[in-house]
Amino acid sequence: MKAIQLFAALLIGGAATAATAAAPAPAPADSAKAEKIYKATCMACHGAGVLGAPKFGDKAAWGPRVAKGKPALYTNALNGFKMMPPRGGNPALKDDEVKAVVDYMIAKSN
Ligand code: HEC
Repeated sequence: MKAIQLFAALLIGGAATAATAAAPAPAPADSAKAEKIYKATCMACHGAGVLGAPKFGDKAAWGPRVAKGKPALYTNALNGFKMMPPRGGNPALKDDEVKAVVDYMIAKSN
């Protein structure tokens, strides 16, 4: 009987560990999604600095923009700003998705 109990304990313990590992923490999941959207929609300009877009990862280009505050950057990303098209030209993106990508770009360029 002891062996069975031990086996059961291992099984339950193993399942609990697997469940913990499988449960995605909210932040990495959001950032993975944001990265996907960035690559699909924003990288065309922000990857290489097309039309004067602040380049992804370019601290000098993003610094003064980040200094304006996130709300201003969200608004400009949503509504467009000079050569920056509204929602990066993808009207299907939800507000929260656009904001998450802005957060993602800032986090990687700071
Ligand atoms: C067609 C090219 C293009 C695409 C696609 C694009 N951007 Fe931009 N973006 C620009 C340009 C150009 C600027 C710089 C505008 C300026 O300051 O003259 C800019 C600036 C920005 C800024 C800074 C705005 C500010 O207030 O300084 C943010 C934030 C931004 N883009 C987010 C995004 C996001 C998020 C996406 C994808 C959903 C995206 N962009 C896709 C061209 C693009």
